[in-house]
Amino acid sequence: MTEFAWILPAAGMGARLRADLPKALVPLCGTPILVHTLRRIARISPGAVPVVLVPPEHHAAFARVCATYETPCRLLHGGAERQDSVRAGLEALPSDTGIVAIHDAARCLIRPEPVLAAVAAAEACGAATVAVPVVDTILVADAEEYLESTPDRRTLWACQTPQVFQYEVIMAAHRSARAEGFLGTDDASLVRRAGGRVKLVAGDSSNIKITRPADLRMAEALLAEEDSCTG
Ligand code: C5P
Repeated sequence: MTEFAWILPAAGMGARLRADLPKALVPLCGTPILVHTLRRIARISPGAVPVVLVPPEHHAAFARVCATYETPCRLLHGGAERQDSVRAGLEALPSDTGIVAIHDAARCLIRPEPVLAAVAAAEACGAATVAVPVVDTILVADAEEYLESTPDRRTLWACQTPQVFQYEVIMAAHRSARAEGFLGTDDASLVRRAGGRVKLVAGDSSNIKITRPADLRMAEALLAEEDSCTG
């Protein structure tokens, strides 16, 4: 069986959440967001020890949380941008790693089905991302915020995580992005940029990324619905 690894970027401070803690430590139903995410991953891949990228100055707080909630993980220091954090995680994996799933710590409502589908797609074609078709019409603005164009909605998907890759594919994509000074907001775009194919795997709209205060309330409601709103 191929060696499978999880990388969880959790080094963002979450300015848009307006909390005085790093976003991944903000409580959701009384339990830090990261713990919800790690518990879900443990159910999807029992025995996995995810690599979690944390803000260096908050390492001790993350270590306390992982010990208190008995959620096994390997804490490493993230970088200034999400891409730097992910690269640090990739560089820490053994070179014989087969498949890597990169998942935002802030998406704590991930379900098994899209993960398993993305892993199968990445095994088959090298790279896959979970995504959902957009429901809103998307507007492209010009520099003065006038409407530039309205892309055909039928071709548009909203990106989620996990994004799953064969290890060599994502390592090569990160190396070339770094060499060219390109900074993306996700990892699949780096693979595409390097000429690779990325399969889109349909996820579900409950896999929200906690970003703003309203997302916390939405996540609590979704957890309560599935009876997981516990400490
Ligand atoms: O900022 P955004 O919400 O897009 O971040 C997505 C994920 O990337 C979050 O889980 C966040 O903690 C992580 N991140 C990181 N290192 C950074 C910035 C964001 O690991 N420098």
